[in-house]
Amino acid sequence: MPAIRSLAFAAVFVAPTLAVAQDVTDGEKVFKKCMSCHSVKAGENKVGPSLFGIVDRPVASVEGFKYSEAMKAKGGAWTEAELDPYLLNPKQAVPGTHMSFMGLKKAEDRAAIIAYLATLK
Ligand code: HEC
Repeated sequence: MPAIRSLAFAAVFVAPTLAVAQDVTDGEKVFKKCMSCHSVKAGENKVGPSLFGIVDRPVASVEGFKYSEAMKAKGGAWTEAELDPYLLNPKQAVPGTHMSFMGLKKAEDRAAIIAYLATLK
């Protein structure tokens, strides 16, 4: 009996951790679509700003990066709730943004990439 109980315990508490780990690995793959324009190294800007620490970072806050007026005017921070619609359709979420990216149509791709971006701290 105790063995079964600890198995059930493992199933409940380990499974969500595995799901997150899977998301992070998937997210790293999805990030290939962003790599031409974004680095994950702090302070390394390409066509787009460095995405190091992007989750919960204030919008348009990378020193020395030339953001669009639209992005500078957006305000707030890149919470998961703000990142999701932006990654789905950048031009619709922030009209006038300079980010030329068609968006990630699949919700699971967006969830995975946000999980990956959250590890960059
Ligand atoms: C073709 C180049 C390009 C691609 C591809 C691209 N981006 Fe961007 N990204 C930009 C540019 C340029 C900006 C600055 C936008 C502005 O100032 O309006 C930006 C801005 C951002 C911001 C806001 C940063 C801040 O400091 O406020 C986030 C978040 C972001 N991109 C995430 C992503 C993710 C995630 C992907 C891949 C799914 C991606 N981008 C793909 C060019 C790109």
